[in-house]
Amino acid sequence: MSKIFIDACFGKKTPYTPVWMMRQAGRYLPEYMKVREEAGDFLSLCHDPKRACEVTLQPVDILGVDAAILFSDILVVPNEMGMELDFVKGEGPVFAKPIRDEKALDGLLGGKEAARKLEYVYETIRLIKERLPDDKALIGFTGSPWTLATYMVEGQGSKSYSIVKKEVYANPEFMHKLLAKVTEVLKYYLEMQIEAGAEVVQIFDSWASALEKSKYFEFSWNYMKEIASYIKSKYPHIPIIMFPKGIAIYLDEIDGDFDVFGVDWSTPMAVAKKHLGDRYVLQGNMEPCRLYSKEATKECVTSIANTMKEGRHIFNLGHGILPDVPVENAKYFVKLCQEVSKRD
Ligand code: CP3
Repeated sequence: MSKIFIDACFGKKTPYTPVWMMRQAGRYLPEYMKVREEAGDFLSLCHDPKRACEVTLQPVDILGVDAAILFSDILVVPNEMGMELDFVKGEGPVFAKPIRDEKALDGLLGGKEAARKLEYVYETIRLIKERLPDDKALIGFTGSPWTLATYMVEGQGSKSYSIVKKEVYANPEFMHKLLAKVTEVLKYYLEMQIEAGAEVVQIFDSWASALEKSKYFEFSWNYMKEIASYIKSKYPHIPIIMFPKGIAIYLDEIDGDFDVFGVDWSTPMAVAKKHLGDRYVLQGNMEPCRLYSKEATKECVTSIANTMKEGRHIFNLGHGILPDVPVENAKYFVKLCQEVSKRD
């Protein structure tokens, strides 16, 4: 059976433009909060395939999105490489012992061995595939090597990224060694997700905008491209979505072996279309805070639909949905995207 989401990723004509939302399984859904409470905490939920499967399917049932995204977190990878991880209330993720020298880096598990430790993720995928309706697609994902490295070196989220950028400028060989090690794990990680049943993969580069242009290509995009080429050479039928957040100014130089470019909310869709629309299908890009207002949602969806009326598009937000968005507004967004884009 051909799936509308997969067809759209490859730029084929579809009856309407499919839609999903980054972070669609999460705290804005009371059903999610209930399962998270049963699990104990967020990381326990990630480690529990049955419950992770359940929350993955919630937005498909409740909102009617065209694709499910695996419920997990980008930080389970450094966690399984050997870094102790904690989600601290109000502060977000914290690695108690950041990686700041070669000795610490050498102590981390790498390659296939690290990827194999994420078996609970692959089991979650297998469970989801048993229950996901045939017409919906399952998206697997990873963080980009750079975005993961920011957490691994800083130890937590950052405003200035000065600790990790100090390594970029003062100790570039160390940074490249770290990024290469993470890249190798991520190739196997995505491969194992695909073998378990993921039908699309997205690479999240959430902190792309922390780097100036030349450093961005050297320390982030090149590693993302390496992962994409590896996956494409083995699984040409699996669409790859790249989502680097906050790099509108470099769009003209984006290249690589992938299918869909995720446009963040700060980039006008028309600008992305001009630079990339011929080469890649575009995903996005409503500003997530518009979801607080149905009127603001409608204005934006209509405008994006108009810009992308020839197709080669997947509706999404331009970053993750926020925890206090009314569920009703999220439903409205999904339905509206599917309706305004209907074609014969
Ligand atoms: O999209 C989905 O629905 C799938 C699940 C998913 C989560 N995190 C669940 C989650 C995905 C794809 C992610 C990716 C992720 N995680 C990114 C990249 C995407 C982005 O938003 O930029 C990043 C940077 C992270 C790291 C991370 N995880 C942070 C900074 C936080 C804390 C911030 C917050 O929102 O609380 C998390 C926790 C997290 N990951 C939650 C969820 C549902 C909230 C945890 C909870 O239930 O309290």
